[in-house]
Amino acid sequence: MKITAAITGVGGYVPDYVLTNQELEQLVDTTDEWITSRTGIKERRLLKGKDQGSSVMGIKAVKQLLEKTNTRPDEIDLVICATVTPDMLFPATANIISAGAGINKAFSYDMNAACSGFLYALATGAQFIQGGMYKKVIVVGADKMSAIVDYTDRANCILFGDGAGAVLLEPSTEGYGLLDQVLCSDGHGEQYLNQKAGGSRRPPTAETVANHEHYIFQEGATVFKFAVKSMADVAAQVMARQNLSHDDIAWLVPHQANKRIIDATANRMGVGPEKVMLNIQRYGNTTNATIPLCLWDYEKQLHKGDNLIFAAFGGGFTWGAIHVKWAYNS
Ligand code: COA
Repeated sequence: MKITAAITGVGGYVPDYVLTNQELEQLVDTTDEWITSRTGIKERRLLKGKDQGSSVMGIKAVKQLLEKTNTRPDEIDLVICATVTPDMLFPATANIISAGAGINKAFSYDMNAACSGFLYALATGAQFIQGGMYKKVIVVGADKMSAIVDYTDRANCILFGDGAGAVLLEPSTEGYGLLDQVLCSDGHGEQYLNQKAGGSRRPPTAETVANHEHYIFQEGATVFKFAVKSMADVAAQVMARQNLSHDDIAWLVPHQANKRIIDATANRMGVGPEKVMLNIQRYGNTTNATIPLCLWDYEKQLHKGDNLIFAAFGGGFTWGAIHVKWAYNS
């Protein structure tokens, strides 16, 4: 019998501190009206405090996931963390999260595919389940974007927030879970969205710090154009491959980068706003956490058998869409 990887639970965490558009108006030359109309974002959460990394949020999301699914930490086989803001370049943040959540019999590692990382990690985690060797895999998306946001750069500092979300993958023999995927990347996109320094090409120096090279660099308008086309293309492609019409789709679960990109993807799929998960207005772009945080916020509205299309776009460029048949009622 064919084994698929079903999502059997969701955990999430966002920090308490709320950075509003009004507060951003005090930091840079912008307005609530500009931010809202161009992006759909009203506020985002920030992780404050000394020596607090993405793992702090990842641990909270994973602990909640274990509790909600009545899973003992020692039952977990594998933890994959998708992040662009690891606590350190090494060891992997997934290792730190596992230790913090009491998971002591799993192997764990990080994946980096920028804003598409959660989809890449989900597809990878599913392979371990589908292969039959592993029974419980946790996929976490955790990012402390405030660590790499330049709060003097008005085009970028309005977009991002901090958060973490996690899902549990378990085997299904009834056809629930990840059923199809289209994942893409194109390294020519490197120049449009990146963090220039801090890696091996440009190790940190006083000069790289002075030049703000440890922050997100983005050519917003170029990224926007690629994102609108790519996210819509792959979502439509997965629907066609799975013979799904817009009526068959219960939910679009889009990466939350910009409401206009989300609207374009929904239009292309032919689904109305009532079928689109949206929390960008409260969290902004939390990079790898956007999709699991959508599931976390909307979990109670999901029904067993619902067809969900996850879609994302990110630095690299990377993009992709996954068809998931939801496995449970809350
Ligand atoms: N407040 C007011 N004005 C701003 C501003 C802000 N926060 N940020 C930029 N502007 C100005 C620009 O300086 C520019 O002014 P100019 O015409 O005088 O030079 C003008 O607004 C238009 O800038 P532009 O970058 O063309 O705006 P845009 O409509 O493309 O919106 C983004 C900017 C960043 C919101 C948009 O490009 C975007 O969302 N891009 C994709 C980002 C993304 O999703 N990245 C992550 C992918 S995972």
